[in-house]
Amino acid sequence: MKNKVVIVTGSNSGIGRETALALADMGATVVAIVRSKELGEQACETIMSETGNELVEMMLCDLSSMNTIRRFADEFKKKFDRLDVLINNAGAVFSKREVTVEGFERTLAVNYLAPFLLTHELLPLLKKSAPSRVINLSSGLARRAELNLEDLQSESNYKSRKAYSSAKLMVEMFTYELARQLEGTGVSVNAVLPGFVATNLGRSSGSLSSRIMFGMMKPFQLSPKEGAETSIYIATSPEVEGVTGKCFRKREVITTSDTSYDVEKQNQLWNKTVELLGSHWTFS
Ligand SMILES: NC(=O)c1ccc[n+]([C@@H]2O[C@H](COP(=O)([O-])OP(=O)(O)OC[C@H]3O[C@@H](n4cnc5c(N)ncnc54)[C@H](OP(=O)(O)O)[C@@H]3O)[C@@H](O)[C@H]2O)c1
Repeated sequence: MKNKVVIVTGSNSGIGRETALALADMGATVVAIVRSKELGEQACETIMSETGNELVEMMLCDLSSMNTIRRFADEFKKKFDRLDVLINNAGAVFSKREVTVEGFERTLAVNYLAPFLLTHELLPLLKKSAPSRVINLSSGLARRAELNLEDLQSESNYKSRKAYSSAKLMVEMFTYELARQLEGTGVSVNAVLPGFVATNLGRSSGSLSSRIMFGMMKPFQLSPKEGAETSIYIATSPEVEGVTGKCFRKREVITTSDTSYDVEKQNQLWNKTVELLGSHWTFS
C-alpha cells in the first residue's frame, strides 16, 4: 500500500481504528477522519508508534454536518492530489430522534447522507487515482430493514434500531447504484458487513435495551481486529481488483435483501437524497 492514500472515517475507535492501523502497517498514507481532536490525536499517535509509519494524518470532520463534509473535502483536495481508497466506516446509533442544525435526522445524516456526500465530493480524485476503491460499512441489520421513501427522516414513530437498520439498507442501495453509475471508470464500490463486533457502537447513545443487549452479547462478539478484516481485505487485496457493486462478509460476496437490489427503488432513493442535500448533480 506504499504511495497509496487512504481515508478511513471514524478511525479513533473500534473497527475504523483497527482498519487504519492495518493499512498504516502496510505502508499506506492514512488520513484518519475524526470529530474529536483529542481522541483522534491519541489514535494517530498509537497507530504511528505501533506501525512505525509516520504517514498518518488526522483531519477533523463532524460527519453529521453536510457543510462540514463539503469544507473537509475542499481541504483534503488542497492537501492531497490522489485518493486510492475511501472507507466510509463511521457510524452511530441514537436512542432518541435528534435533528442536526441543518435539519437532518441524525441517524440518517451520519450513517447514510455522510457517506453519500463525502463520496460525491471526493469522486473526481478517486477517478483520477483509478483503479481506486470505495468501501461502505453496512450491517446485517439491513437485511430486515424497511425503506420508507416517504419518511426518510423518521419523522413518524422514530425507533433507534429501525432508523439505523434503514440507514444501512440505504447504504447498500447507494453502493449498488453508484457501482453501476461508475462502471468503466476504474472506481469500485462495495459494501462490507463486519459482523457483530465489540466496539463503542451504541454504548453511550443507544437505547437502554440495546446497551443491555450489547453487554450481554459481549462474549459472543468479534474483536475490533476481527471486525476490520473484511474492510482491510477489500481495501487492499488484488483478488478483488475490479470487483464492484457487491456486499462482502468474512471476505466473501453475500446476497443482501431483495429491496437492496431493487433498481427502481435505488433510483428513487438516489433522487430523494439529492433533493435532501439540495444539490443537482450526478455521479456520472
Ligand atoms: N460493531 C458492530 O457490531 C457493527 C455491526 C455492523 C456494522 N457496524 C458498522 O461498523 C462501523 C464502525 O462502527 P464500530 O462498531 O467500530 O463503532 P464505534 O467504535 O462506535 O466507532 C464508530 C466511529 O464513528 C465515529 N463517528 C460517529 N459519529 C460521527 C460523526 N458525527 N462524525 C465523525 N465521526 C463519527 C466515531 O467517533 P466518536 O468516537 O467520536 O464517536 C467512531 O470513531 C459503523 O458504520 C457501524 O455501523 C458495526
